[in-house]
Amino acid sequence: MIGIMCAMVEELEPILEQVEVKDKIHHGNNTYYLASFDNKDIVLAYSKIGKVNAAITATAMIEKFGVEKLLFSGVAGAIDEDLKIGDLIVATEVCQHDIDLTVFGYKHGFIPESQIFFDCDSNLINIAEHVADKLGIKLKKGIIASGDQFVHSKEKKEWIKEVFGASAIEMEGGAVGCVTWNYQVPFFMLRAISDTAEEGAGVDFDAFLEESSKVSAKFLLEMLKEI
Ligand code: ADE
Repeated sequence: MIGIMCAMVEELEPILEQVEVKDKIHHGNNTYYLASFDNKDIVLAYSKIGKVNAAITATAMIEKFGVEKLLFSGVAGAIDEDLKIGDLIVATEVCQHDIDLTVFGYKHGFIPESQIFFDCDSNLINIAEHVADKLGIKLKKGIIASGDQFVHSKEKKEWIKEVFGASAIEMEGGAVGCVTWNYQVPFFMLRAISDTAEEGAGVDFDAFLEESSKVSAKFLLEMLKEI
């Protein structure tokens, strides 16, 4: 079983439209869609925004639905200058920029018995690169940082770049990466840029959420054919 998750309904809808939904299951105050695409069994859900909601959905996907690979599609704010609205980025690693136990001598993002960075699955990243080559699509790879904050400040995004080396920012991937690391389930995350995470990012996010969600969804479905 392959799991596909998003944070928001706008991110999931363009994927749901293209798959054959067989059943809808309500679990833990959320809806999970059992579906098939390209003869593959998949389960899809959007978690709602934020790390806690994302962790709940990722855990349910694994524990209740037996997901063996978890793929995430959605939008992100750009940190790197070369990322423009609508561009795609694949996470090589994810982290949580809002974890702060520095008073105890730990680095930003670190929790004892856990780690700062969670690796994304290299086989799935290779498939994404192959699909991008085949379709002639530019696909950037980089670290994606998550926190329970919509970042709309140049100062904040530069801090996240400096401390974590992140190329893009959003609000769920670090939590899903933590869940999949704990359960040893391969994780892949694709995001299309919706804003530049600077002053005015909220306006851009509202303007480009739908369009960028479709860009990410379309690529993920192409990838799914190769998995
Ligand atoms: N998702 C998309 N844009 C974002 C931003 N600027 N901050 C956090 N999450 C985002």
